[in-house]
Amino acid sequence: MKITIVGCGNMGLVYARAFLRYNIVKPEDLLLVEKNEMRKEELVQLQIGRVVTPSDPAIGASDIIIIAVKPQDFSELAPLLRKVLSPATIVLTIMAGIKISLLENQLQHKSIVRAMPNSPVEIGMGITGFSANKEVSAEQIRKVENLLATTGRTVFFEKEDMLDAVTALSGSGPAYFFYLVKSMIEAGEEMGMDKAVATLLVKQTMLGAFHLVNNANKSLDELIKTVSSKGGTTEAAFGVFNANGVGENLGKGILAAEKRAKELSDSR
Ligand SMILES: NC(=O)c1ccc[n+]([C@@H]2O[C@H](COP(=O)([O-])OP(=O)(O)OC[C@H]3O[C@@H](n4cnc5c(N)ncnc54)[C@H](OP(=O)(O)O)[C@@H]3O)[C@@H](O)[C@H]2O)c1
Repeated sequence: MKITIVGCGNMGLVYARAFLRYNIVKPEDLLLVEKNEMRKEELVQLQIGRVVTPSDPAIGASDIIIIAVKPQDFSELAPLLRKVLSPATIVLTIMAGIKISLLENQLQHKSIVRAMPNSPVEIGMGITGFSANKEVSAEQIRKVENLLATTGRTVFFEKEDMLDAVTALSGSGPAYFFYLVKSMIEAGEEMGMDKAVATLLVKQTMLGAFHLVNNANKSLDELIKTVSSKGGTTEAAFGVFNANGVGENLGKGILAAEKRAKELSDSR
């Protein structure tokens, strides 16, 4: 397989490394396009692919081109890519909030897949929601899925609109958990614990809770019940959570993130 990655910043490099780790591509078949001179130099030193310009005709022979520049940099890049793209190439974009129709127009290209990964892709534990236009065949979707799965799990959505919900739920999602973990650690410190001890207790609790959600044959309500007894400590905590609408407000926050994702993609 021949792959080009355009924009080899944080995410571009994550994909380059993941593809090589899983032997999906050989370094000589991995083309890297990067604008930042310092980054370009780093890529040359890393020897993970061939660093080329966006107008290099070799890009035209790629099976897949991944666009991983910032959304605001795409309009400058599009006319250059348009010249070298060949019709058989699949364009895979991870740019937040740039719709498939915009890529179709600016690149004058038919086969487009749009994906929304989240930050744990960096350690192979991400989840990526993705969608494609009608020009992309089931076989091509499987090909793209294999690539995305090198960084974690994937979910395909028939409707591109759902990527706004993906952005709000799993895209921004890591930050929601960081916020919860931070609040719990701060509570530990308020009760007189060392930060390091509170951090250990909270992190291991999060890990254990995750595995129970995944492996215990119980619903979330049942799992909450197993930790709660009448007149006990968990009930006391939930009394405050419910009185302050914590769960409800968390839901409202996520809906606000979805609304913002829609606004951003409508403005581009
Ligand atoms: N980070 C995440 O967790 C995450 C999650 C989902 C989606 N995304 C999407 O992933 C994309 C990349 O994010 P990132 O965090 O990896 O950004 P980043 O670190 O800034 O990487 C983008 C790289 O592309 C370079 N670039 C800009 N214009 C270019 C051009 N015309 N040709 C070649 N290279 C060019 C940039 O150089 P300069 O620095 O010189 O501009 C930079 O090195 C964004 O569109 C973002 O929406 C990111």
